[in-house]
Amino acid sequence: MSRPLDRILALEAVRVTEAAAIRAHALVGRGDEHAADMAAVEGMRWAFNHLPIDGTVVIGEGERDEAPMLFIGEKVGAGGLKVDIALDPLEGTTLCAKGLPNSIAVMAMAEAGTLLNAPDVYMDKVAIGPGYPEGVIDLDAEPAENIIALAKAKDVKPERIGALVLDRPRHEKVIASIRKAGASVQLITDGDVAGVIATTEPDTTSIDIYIGQGGAPEGVLAAAALRCVGGQLQTRLVFRNDRERARAERWGITDLNRRYHLTDLASGDVVFSATGVTNGSMLEGVHVHRTYITTHSVVMRSATKTVRWVKMRHPIENG
Ligand code: FBP
Repeated sequence: MSRPLDRILALEAVRVTEAAAIRAHALVGRGDEHAADMAAVEGMRWAFNHLPIDGTVVIGEGERDEAPMLFIGEKVGAGGLKVDIALDPLEGTTLCAKGLPNSIAVMAMAEAGTLLNAPDVYMDKVAIGPGYPEGVIDLDAEPAENIIALAKAKDVKPERIGALVLDRPRHEKVIASIRKAGASVQLITDGDVAGVIATTEPDTTSIDIYIGQGGAPEGVLAAAALRCVGGQLQTRLVFRNDRERARAERWGITDLNRRYHLTDLASGDVVFSATGVTNGSMLEGVHVHRTYITTHSVVMRSATKTVRWVKMRHPIENG
C-alpha cells in the first residue's frame, strides 16, 4: 500500500463501519438477528462502492452460496488500490438484537494477499496487549501458567491480572484454571474482537489477557487491530468435523494443526476501523437525534501505529 493513499484510506475506512453501524442501529432491540445483520451488510456494501479501492473480501459473511452480499471472494470498491478486506458488519448480532452493550461494526483493509483466508470455524486464541517481551504467553500452556508468566512480566501478583473469556460451557476448564492461578475473570456473552482489543488498554479495561475459543474470522480481525496497536496473539484453528477440515483444505490450509502468530494472520500494512452500534466499553453506540445521528469509531493504521477516535455527526436529510 503506498503511503499517501494509505493515509487517505484510513480516513475513508471509517465511513464503511459508520454506514454499517447506522443501518444496524435501526434494528437494535428488535429481536431479529438476521434482519440486523442484513441491515449492517447493506450499509457496509453501499459504503464500499464509494471507496477508491479494488478490494477482495477474504473474511466476509460466508461463502458465495451462503451469503448474498459481502461473501468471500466478492470484489468491492470503486476501483483503485488492490487490497484484502476482512469484515464483520455486525460483530455481536445477538447483542444488537437484544439491545445489549458492545455490538460493533468492524472492517480491516490490508495489502493484497496479506490477510489469512481463515475458514469460518472456531479458533483457540490467547492475546495480550503491547509492552511485553515476545513469547510471554504460550497457546499450548495451561491458562494458569499464562497468568503466572504474565503477572511476572508485569511485575504484579497474579491476583492483579484480569482475564476476559467468552461465557460458554466449553470454557469451564479455562475459567477454573485462570481462577486457580488467582486472576479475576470477566465473562462476555459475545464479541471477542473487542475482547482482544480490550487487552491493549489494561488500565482502563482491567483486562490483561484474552483466553478462549471464538470464531476464526474474528481472530483475523482482532489480529488486524493488534497489528496497529501492538500486542501478541497466538491462535490455532479448531475443526469439529470432516466437513470443516475439508473446507480448510479447499482454502489451501494444509497444516491443520498450525499455530498462527499475529503476523501469520495479518502480515502486511493494515487499516482497522470499528464503529459502535450499541454503547460499549470501547465505543459509544449510535445515537439518533431529531436532526442528526452521531457515531463513535476508532480507526487505526499499522504503518504509523496511529489511533484516531472519530465522533461524527451525520445530518438526517429533511430532519
Ligand atoms: P456474531 O456477531 O457472528 O454473532 O459473533 C459473535 C461472537 O461472539 C464472536 O465475537 C465470537 O468469536 C463468536 O461469536 C463465538 O462463537 P459462539 O457463539 O459459537 O461461541
